[in-house]
Amino acid sequence: MKTIDEQGYHFEEWLTPQEIAQDVAQVADRISKDYQEKEPLFVVVLNGAFVFAADLIRALKDIRCEVTFIRVSSYWGMSSTGKLEFIVPLQQVVDNRDVVIVEDIVDTGLTIHQLKAHLRGLGAASIRVATMLFKPRKLEYDDAKPDYIGREITDEFVIGYGLDFDGFERNLDAIYKVKE
Ligand code: IMP
Repeated sequence: MKTIDEQGYHFEEWLTPQEIAQDVAQVADRISKDYQEKEPLFVVVLNGAFVFAADLIRALKDIRCEVTFIRVSSYWGMSSTGKLEFIVPLQQVVDNRDVVIVEDIVDTGLTIHQLKAHLRGLGAASIRVATMLFKPRKLEYDDAKPDYIGREITDEFVIGYGLDFDGFERNLDAIYKVKE
């Protein structure tokens, strides 16, 4: 079993790179089918989603699409601060576009809830959410339930594959779960 120690916490490998690739392929197939007749705009939520997004968009089949980025922050250490900050605002016109938000993980749903309101206000024609991981038991906002989910997870904190602990461990190619 592969393990990582970070800031006094012990993490164990939970999803291998092969398992992640299967989850990503499944999400990409569904999006490819649903957006066949459209030209979606993927809005990648930085920083965490950059790894998932890079794999996801390359796994899409026969899709004409655009990709843009937004950087938000609501987390410090292992818990949410409850307030969303737009650190890098959206650079792309979303008016009348079919938007797919790409997230690394949906936890309380605050980020998606606020981002959807923001994109609706900018005139998006439709908004869906693709996430690598989803913690359904922690969801606090109904409208933040993701449309495309790589894998559901219980409440544990995870790192790797873009997910960080205070900025570190994003570069791990597997996903690791904290152990008490
Ligand atoms: P939400 O707004 O509560 O849904 O939180 C979403 C954001 O919190 C994600 O984009 C991550 O940056 C961060 N986050 C939530 N859970 C975890 C985790 O288990 N590991 C690392 N980051 C997490």
